[in-house]
Amino acid sequence: MDQTLITTINKLQDAFNTVNVANPIDLPQIAVVGSQSSGKSSVLENIVGRDFLPRGSGIVTRRPLVLQLINRPNSKGEVGGVAGAETGNTAAAAKTSSGELEEWGEFLHIPGKKFADFNEIRDEINRETENKVGKNAGVSPQPINLRIYSPNVLTLTLIDLPGLTKVAVGDQPKDIERLIKDMIMKFITKPNCIILSVTAANTDLANSDGLKLAREVDPEGVRTIGVLTKIDLMDPGTDVVDILANRVIPLRLGFVPVVNRGQRDIDNNKKISLALDSERQYFENHAAYRSKAQFCGTPFLARKLNMILMHHIKNTLPEIKAKIGAGLSKYQTELAQLGDPMGVEEDLRSNVILNVITEFTNEYRSVLEGTSNDITS
Ligand code: GDP
Ligand code: NA
Ligand code: MG
Repeated sequence: MDQTLITTINKLQDAFNTVNVANPIDLPQIAVVGSQSSGKSSVLENIVGRDFLPRGSGIVTRRPLVLQLINRPNSKGEVGGVAGAETGNTAAAAKTSSGELEEWGEFLHIPGKKFADFNEIRDEINRETENKVGKNAGVSPQPINLRIYSPNVLTLTLIDLPGLTKVAVGDQPKDIERLIKDMIMKFITKPNCIILSVTAANTDLANSDGLKLAREVDPEGVRTIGVLTKIDLMDPGTDVVDILANRVIPLRLGFVPVVNRGQRDIDNNKKISLALDSERQYFENHAAYRSKAQFCGTPFLARKLNMILMHHIKNTLPEIKAKIGAGLSKYQTELAQLGDPMGVEEDLRSNVILNVITEFTNEYRSVLEGTSNDITS
């Protein structure tokens, strides 16, 4: 039921996009914040379970990437699990026996083109980044929009962001720090944005840019989840157990430690499935984490994220409902004033929205028992 609820929210978002109506509903999203090279893109990629994001040392992510993951059942009708379900050896997506794609990406700026090869998705992100901001470290707040359809993802919208940096390099303006901060703020100030605050475990948590920014917009910590990367690079004999126990910088939603691929793994094209195996083994075999291994690593982070998102959507439903109700009555008044006959295009637009809202209302009703007033009547 909860998965359906999220799917429906995504459909609503789709409907408003296809009819060219600026999205009137502020839907929940998940954004990553943190210092440059703290591992933000790596974390997102592991959650998705596919290799497709530009990663590396230095400033690699230079425009926001709005990434909509859409879970679709595979050919056998099974719904896939969380991250790490990938089994194939190649970057090309699996196909069903009838030759239909099971998993693909689509960019908003190239409508209709299905990217089956995830390496090509990465190339296109790079190309589209360079189109806008050049090759030399320039940044732009204009997002790239990508959707990934797959049986192996949870239905989530994730936003990859450039990392915080203090010193300008290449084509970057002198005020790069403020520029990137503003860019990040635009996403994370929204009260319904869930913040994935990424800090490398081999750096000081008290100086974490990701946590500082998150605290500015979410002082109570009700929508910030801490992610500790590079656990494998910590000095021997040190660990993050005190942080996980919330004894260092308490976060209401807690911290999740992860081990992503290092630069050498990236250079050697280490497969994501192997990386997730190594990650699991790392936590299961480490004296400090062994007893709590099920609360460590990317699969736990993915489950936790989905749960937080579902709670969040449920909490914001009354507000979304009120907005739809208000928008709908305004729209119906406008339609009535347009009189008869409506243009075909206008007719189509209203139908798409009305259908989706009706469906949404039905989902909504089944989620919140007892409140069955129909907003479309
Ligand atoms: P971003 O700039 O925050 O998006 O960081 P990236 O995901 O691009 O990663 C920056 C660098 O850190 C890359 O070379 C990664 O391989 C490396 N890296 C990220 N996470 C980890 C980790 O958990 N362990 C190790 N050893 N390296 C990591
Ligand atoms: Na980087
Ligand atoms: Mg990045």
